[in-house]
Amino acid sequence: MGGFFITLEGGEGAGKSTALGTIREWLQARGLAFVLTREPGGTPPAERIRELLLDPETGELAPLTELLLMFAARNENLERVIRPALAAGKVVVSDRFTDASMAYQGAGRGLGREPVEQLARLVHGDLLPDLTLLLDVPVDTGLERISQRSEGPDRFERTRPEFLERVRQGYLEQARREPKRFVVIDATAGLDIVGEQIRTVLEERLA
Ligand code: TMP
Repeated sequence: MGGFFITLEGGEGAGKSTALGTIREWLQARGLAFVLTREPGGTPPAERIRELLLDPETGELAPLTELLLMFAARNENLERVIRPALAAGKVVVSDRFTDASMAYQGAGRGLGREPVEQLARLVHGDLLPDLTLLLDVPVDTGLERISQRSEGPDRFERTRPEFLERVRQGYLEQARREPKRFVVIDATAGLDIVGEQIRTVLEERLA
């Protein structure tokens, strides 16, 4: 058995944390063996790369440097967490994956698809998520939500709304290209409705 690979994506303030909680509860209730991870991050060295990437003190990075760091962290997560868990037949849930690089670095930073596709080929070849849940919210709604958090904005949350709009469109474009893998969820709906939609999708895809 090859396991099952789920990724969760969305712009800033889309409600990923709540969605992750829903997914975790659903998997636990069914007694499925699963591993949760996140990107950038998931292993101690990859979490250090994450700190560098998210810390506003880091300042500006050349877009390709940012992309390479995302994939450096991704390679660690794949080698140490994702591939071993899938090989053991587990469900893997990753809070973001390569679609985030396509949206943030490809569309947001303007690198385009090519470098992201090249690195994806190099780093994970044929390994694609079996299911990608995209939580979609208008940029204003997302920004409004993160403004209510206690911690200050990270390097990406500090970007301009135009950047975040490109990110949103980048994600939606990915979803149009791969309609079988993606499920787009309108995350402006109430938490209970979003939760119910997620459970329905899991029911259909994993049962
Ligand atoms: P978050 O998922 O906790 O919101 O933080 C991760 C941030 O990193 C988020 O702003 C999106 C960004 N990111 C990229 O720009 N490219 C990537 O490939 C990944 C995985 C994340």
